[in-house]
Amino acid sequence: MQTSPPPRTYRVKSFGCQMNVYDGERMAELLAAQGISPAPEGEDADLVVLNTCHIREKAAEKVYSDIGRIVKSGDKAGRKPLIAVAGCVAQAEGEEIMARAPAVGMVVGPQAYHRLPEMLERAVAGERASDTDMPAIAKFDALPERRKIGPSAFLTVQEGCDKFCTYCVVPYTRGAEISRPFASLIDEAHRLVDAGAREITLLGQNVNAWSGEDAAGRAVGLDGLIRELATLPGLQRIRYTTSHPADVTDGLIAAHGEVAKLMPFLHLPVQSGSDRVLRAMNRSHTADGYLRLLDRFRDARPDIAISGDFIVGFPGETEAEFADTLKLVETVGYAQCFSFKYSPRPGTPAATMDGQVAPEVMDDRLQRLQAALNRDQSAFNAASVGKRCAVLVERKGKKPRQWLGKSPWLQSVWFEGDHAIGDLVEVELVEAGPNSLAGRVLQPVHA
Ligand code: 5AD
Ligand code: SF4
Repeated sequence: MQTSPPPRTYRVKSFGCQMNVYDGERMAELLAAQGISPAPEGEDADLVVLNTCHIREKAAEKVYSDIGRIVKSGDKAGRKPLIAVAGCVAQAEGEEIMARAPAVGMVVGPQAYHRLPEMLERAVAGERASDTDMPAIAKFDALPERRKIGPSAFLTVQEGCDKFCTYCVVPYTRGAEISRPFASLIDEAHRLVDAGAREITLLGQNVNAWSGEDAAGRAVGLDGLIRELATLPGLQRIRYTTSHPADVTDGLIAAHGEVAKLMPFLHLPVQSGSDRVLRAMNRSHTADGYLRLLDRFRDARPDIAISGDFIVGFPGETEAEFADTLKLVETVGYAQCFSFKYSPRPGTPAATMDGQVAPEVMDDRLQRLQAALNRDQSAFNAASVGKRCAVLVERKGKKPRQWLGKSPWLQSVWFEGDHAIGDLVEVELVEAGPNSLAGRVLQPVHA
């Protein structure tokens, strides 16, 4: 590679999960701390970071086509933007990317992005730089201050996964489960609130596997962390995602009944309603065990909204087994859900299992599952009409005096009035659509 002038502008493009969104924000902060500015909308950046996701299908192909597009746009303008590939595709396929895409100057894995500034120096000097080490959580100590942020902020508390579900690449790309220390999380939460956050969503691939020691040296789980965060003045709402059924504790369930700032929402993926499929997935729970857990959450917090993830067409899944998934969906009554066609991931055990399901069968099952989930989501929203709740104002709408915020149950709510982003506004939910509701303002609640 040739030497290049130090970049003046950057753009970070994040794909995939919320943790990638968080990582993307932190990379942006890191670049801003180097004096690089975000590229104005519609303009090419001198440095483009592709923060990639590897969880499903054709992720790498997408990266190569994005790289192609950036190079082409640079050629047209007679410049050579610096391209960095970050995230889980970088971790899984970093060497191939370096070999196949000469335009890429940097490859950086999800556990190494705190070293971006040094890598950037090398790239500017004409040396291609790759770092896919997995140092234990060191990156968080090496990241700069949080910038001014919106009212709803993410905070990564735990990374990695030891569960090894047989379809999933996460244990390979994000590494073993690691919890960030209690004190540094409380510290970052304080800084997020100081920077404008009213809601914090605690993130982890298995967020409820988080463990640590509180200020008194006592062992605490996620519920202990939540209880401590709830004492932060200025912080109004706490959420967490994504949870694993095997790591649900009595304390976490109890917290839903006891901590007012903990929102009545639970994202607890089940993946399938068939015990045979769950075993083949190495999920360590049965359909019934999952349902009993939900009952306990509902006992603690009767209005809790349930969300989940499903995979259809896991190798060997029969029509009868898929019917068990539909049955489970009917039993739960989800408020919202994510559902995916099984996608064989290189290096995972399921990718070489017998009985790979034909694409048209997967399409058909996904369609039927999504029809059921959409029906339940609409029903959940319709049942919310008439409720009064606080809405956290997140952004302006298109019409004057129109705002968009989130209900405690994570529904999008539109309403009108004179408000500001970050306000908590008391509304009555008056009309429901499949993806959002309309609210009538009762009175502002104080932030
Ligand atoms: N194919 C399809 N979906 C997958 N997920 C994880 N790995 C795969 C895969 N190989 C889904 C799971 C998980 C969500 C984040 O992505 O449902 O909960
Ligand atoms: Fe992947 Fe399973 Fe770990 Fe979730 S629990 S990240 S699905 S291996």
